[in-house]
Amino acid sequence: MVVKIKDNIYWVGSVDWEVREFHGYETLKGSSYNSYLIVDEKNVLIDSAKHYMFEELIEGIKTVIDPKDIDYIVVNHAEKDHSGCIGKLVKLSDAKVITNEKGKEDLNLQFNTEDWEFIIVDTGDEINIGKRTLKFIKTPMLHWPDNMVTYCIEDKILFSNDAFGQHIATSERFDYEVSSDELFDDAKEYFANILLPYKMLIPNAVNAVKGLDIDYICPSHGIIWKEKVEEILNYYMKWSSDNYKNKAVIAYDTMYNSTKKIAHAIGKGLSDEGVEVKIYNISKTPMNTIMREIIDSKYILIGSPTLNSNIYPPVAMFLAYMEGLKPDSNKLAVAFGSYGWMEMATDIIKKSFEKLNFKVIDDECLKCRFVPKEEYIKKCYEFGKKLSKITP
Ligand SMILES: [Fe+2]
Ligand SMILES: [Fe+2]
Repeated sequence: MVVKIKDNIYWVGSVDWEVREFHGYETLKGSSYNSYLIVDEKNVLIDSAKHYMFEELIEGIKTVIDPKDIDYIVVNHAEKDHSGCIGKLVKLSDAKVITNEKGKEDLNLQFNTEDWEFIIVDTGDEINIGKRTLKFIKTPMLHWPDNMVTYCIEDKILFSNDAFGQHIATSERFDYEVSSDELFDDAKEYFANILLPYKMLIPNAVNAVKGLDIDYICPSHGIIWKEKVEEILNYYMKWSSDNYKNKAVIAYDTMYNSTKKIAHAIGKGLSDEGVEVKIYNISKTPMNTIMREIIDSKYILIGSPTLNSNIYPPVAMFLAYMEGLKPDSNKLAVAFGSYGWMEMATDIIKKSFEKLNFKVIDDECLKCRFVPKEEYIKKCYEFGKKLSKITP
């Protein structure tokens, strides 16, 4: 599939309607691996796709030029979802590979690159390709050490790779063709699950981008930003700040509904005091959706039954996922659960909270033996109301 962006600049990406798993990210809407082709005195391909998209990528390029005529391949990031086809493309075209030192290191570890010709770039370097000039800006740790972005000066297009992406498969290509609310939700979910661990680097990166004259931001996943460039930049600033809403995320799993009852009773207490409450059963919700809601929440409550003197496995998995993504430490955190004869789960949850420097709030109603009866549920409800008055 090919879509013209500007004269002689094309999206030649691959839409992956079927992908449902992306290193722990449940991509229920699929994804796309966006490659871009610039036709000039030197023909440039910017990024490739997962290895199994090679045929689709080649078919797209063929509708514009003979793939053998690619002169340069820009590798903004050597993660396999973008580098998967590079080996075959270099073999086919003998193109020179433009990347930075780290990118070269990562490509050397993935391919036999002895015959490859590299052009190594650093921040601020420019390469003339005819009528156009490409400028490179390294964005290390957003989200790998090798990440960089490529800016086409004359056409005012930023090829941002993973930054500003969304994991969605669509037949539309531009932001003005799809629903804004859904698009920003998808961009937020992507941010919360891909960029969050290094969010302290985002404001500088966004300010650098704001200093450029931009007509289009072309990310490597999802929709191209055209009419909402300013908005997505502002959202990135907002999501990377430590502002939070008066919102609680309650995530739990349950064996015989006792932990679930506690979750709902505390949630009702919070909600009756005006707190926005989101309640998720961890086993029934993608972890990435819960993370999307956590990034701007004030409260995080996690519940688990004790099973075999341990935490319930799906909750353990979620904690491991959340710890890696390192949400802001300014949250009030509550561990709760139910048990039969020896309570273990809440201490494990609290250890996870401590690793993230959350402020832990405790209460006698948070560990329920067997089934929470009416009196107990009332205590949980009252705890929810009390919690709404505490600020981090
Ligand atoms: Fe990546
Ligand atoms: Fe990616």
